[in-house]
Amino acid sequence: MLRVLKESFCSTSFTTTRLASFTTVLSRTLRLGEGGSAREFWFWTPPSVNPDAAYTFGIIGDLGQTFDSNKTLQHYMEGKGQTVLFVGDLSYADNYPNHDNRRWDTWGRFVESSTAYQPWIWTAGNHELDFVPELGETTPFKPYLSRFHVPYHASNSTSPLWYSIKRASAYIIVLSSYSAYGKYTPQYRWLEENLKRVDRNKTPWLIVLLHSPWYNSNGYHYMEGESMRVQFESMLVAAKVDIVFAGHVHSYERTHRISNIAYNIVNGDCLPVHNESAPVYVTIGDGGNAEGLAAEFTEPQPDYSAFREASFGHAMLEIKNRTHALYYWHRNDDGKAVMADSVWIRNQYWH
Ligand SMILES: [Fe+2]
Repeated sequence: MLRVLKESFCSTSFTTTRLASFTTVLSRTLRLGEGGSAREFWFWTPPSVNPDAAYTFGIIGDLGQTFDSNKTLQHYMEGKGQTVLFVGDLSYADNYPNHDNRRWDTWGRFVESSTAYQPWIWTAGNHELDFVPELGETTPFKPYLSRFHVPYHASNSTSPLWYSIKRASAYIIVLSSYSAYGKYTPQYRWLEENLKRVDRNKTPWLIVLLHSPWYNSNGYHYMEGESMRVQFESMLVAAKVDIVFAGHVHSYERTHRISNIAYNIVNGDCLPVHNESAPVYVTIGDGGNAEGLAAEFTEPQPDYSAFREASFGHAMLEIKNRTHALYYWHRNDDGKAVMADSVWIRNQYWH
């Protein structure tokens, strides 16, 4: 069986308070360890849920632990991100001999420079599965679920692999590409119910995270997200989701607003079409892991693809108010001031 190490926390203390325009924000300090080895960390508590709250998310996927991963993390930390939306494939420990779980620990230490100070909202990828019957490990996701705890009970979910969370003016839904999603499955039923709970008067921005992309024009992992798209896409279009972020493919791509929900087996309408009610889809699996870039895009570039490039990097979503957000992508080869791709996103409900 894979060995799982647990870390323990000790004392915490509140320190300062300050009033922001919409909410009270507390700086909280945690003291971990004892004596000379004690360390202090701090974080800001989240603002109250408010439809006009400005908030900045970073988006990172498929990070791993290489020099490129380090560059991605450093560039993100040079920006003003307040929370990371992480779209799966964290440590790549399963690529090491016997799924070396010490690689989960080294990854935890690697990302600590950010995760100790602000939340990362976790999505499970295929490298979190750690399903290795030949090593006696037949329980999927064990190392990941033992280390990364998410508040899934709060959204009436029965699994930490799918859940939702409200943050400032955003409602974020996390889905699992590697759990059952057919009709009547727990994840399907939960998504149906959870979408009914979204109140765009309170959280205007509706964002979905998942690992295996539904729209991507790269040859790498071709069509792997298709069966999940068939099950869930019409629900997201009906709910007027603003953006869907995915990883898995080690390159960057952003689509126009498109959908492919008209097909009913006999009518032949099986191609993606422009649909202003549909989400923008972003693939951001370019965090920098050791498997390298996915550089083979299909040619010609399909109409639905707005921008695509095989470079490592990260993205940012600056929510300005209930109607507008600035979205942009940084490639690692540039300084952080350069936006390699950028677009204003107009809110699907309020604009
Ligand atoms: Fe993946």
